Amino acid sequence: MYRPSLLALALAACIGSATATEPLPHSPGAPYAATGLADRIVLTPGANPAREMAVTFRTDSRQTSSHLQLAPALDGPQLEKRATLVEGSSQPLDTENGAARYHQVRLAGLQPDTPYVYRVKGAEGWSEWLQLRTAAQGFKPFRFIYLGDTQNDILSIASRSVRQALHATASPALVVHAGDLTSQRDDLVHDDEWGEWNQAGGFHYAAVPQVVAAGNHEYVDSLNPDGSEGRVLGPHWAKQFALPGNGVKGLESTTYFIDYQGVRFIVLDGTAALDLDTLDRQSQWLEQRLKESQARWKIVVTHQPLFTCARPEDTGPLKAAWKPLFERYKVDLVLQGHDHCYSRVSNENGRAAAKKARAAGKVQGPVYMVSVAGSKMYGLNDRARRQPDRSAEDTQLYQTVEVLPTRLEVRSFTASGTLYDAFDLNRDKQGRNRLSEPAGKLPVERFCSGEAGPDQLPCTSRSKSL
Ligand SMILES: [Fe+2]
Repeated sequence: MYRPSLLALALAACIGSATATEPLPHSPGAPYAATGLADRIVLTPGANPAREMAVTFRTDSRQTSSHLQLAPALDGPQLEKRATLVEGSSQPLDTENGAARYHQVRLAGLQPDTPYVYRVKGAEGWSEWLQLRTAAQGFKPFRFIYLGDTQNDILSIASRSVRQALHATASPALVVHAGDLTSQRDDLVHDDEWGEWNQAGGFHYAAVPQVVAAGNHEYVDSLNPDGSEGRVLGPHWAKQFALPGNGVKGLESTTYFIDYQGVRFIVLDGTAALDLDTLDRQSQWLEQRLKESQARWKIVVTHQPLFTCARPEDTGPLKAAWKPLFERYKVDLVLQGHDHCYSRVSNENGRAAAKKARAAGKVQGPVYMVSVAGSKMYGLNDRARRQPDRSAEDTQLYQTVEVLPTRLEVRSFTASGTLYDAFDLNRDKQGRNRLSEPAGKLPVERFCSGEAGPDQLPCTSRSKSL
């Protein structure tokens, strides 16, 4: 049975009975009810993506068994002849769009660096064959896409950033989402939002493994047994993403790590750390995962930025607990969202200090990035025009990272495909990084000036006071 969120109930109570019965705003013209064919098909990596992958999909309630056919990616069309059936499990999910089932199928024992095809079943037939590629065992160069919050106007506005990233980037191996994929907790139809999120990425999300971090908007309000208000993960998250389950005990849906071709990706849950009293447990787990790793590169994904670009204060508890660990264990990149602006911090003391340190040949520590793909924009805080090497407001972006044996090439593009920021992390023989900025002219930084935005239209970035 679908139950509206506490927030929706509270809002309805505040607005009064005249509007309490008005329906929540649905996505225009986009019916997201489940059907007899599978939709919302999403591929996620296993902890060892050379051997393990997982697939989730949604059907209407008639399809109670979770069936996936897996086959080697033949060059000819007779895929079914070589297919084997892999069974999974399913759970019901009742929402504003009616009853549905979410299915999960885990694939194990795969061959490294090998293409496969799969399809999944609904009551009225199979999906198309979808092609994936397992990771190579050990180091092999690859590239991936990193997206900040898609959260708002996911289909109408954020999809442009997602799709530009996907078609301008040759064969991305992964898509990394730094949280707030949707805007749950706001007064919206959440099942529509998940429909929009899937529609924005389309078949790519079924073919390219998705590395997802949970943001604060992945949580919804709940009632604690003592009557106080709490937070729990929204009902879609754990059904939509079959994550490796190798994270902090009790937080397996939102903390995990994967080793992909010589890169250890560690995903943390800032909301649970800040609001659900799990910071110490996450920090201990993080330290173990960093200490044990022999990976050539280490990348952390977490939603709330340690160094903010919009909020007046940095995220103190996360900064105090995690920054020393990132430095001690030589994390290369920290990929974040939440602030709805762009920021690349390579030196806490600011861009001038960063430039001076680079010119003196100083070693580079972790680089902290914040980005946003969707429509909601926050204005820059006091520090954000002088602390980051580069920042932006009122700008939709996506990033690509090229992983090479001794270099990470990080590029930020605006939604129109314009190169906005570029830097390389160059690894020396002692394992230390130095940051360089490739020659070439970048556009003037995009800032609002008073009421005026950078597109000769009113600035849409609103200031964030908390
Ligand atoms: Fe957000």
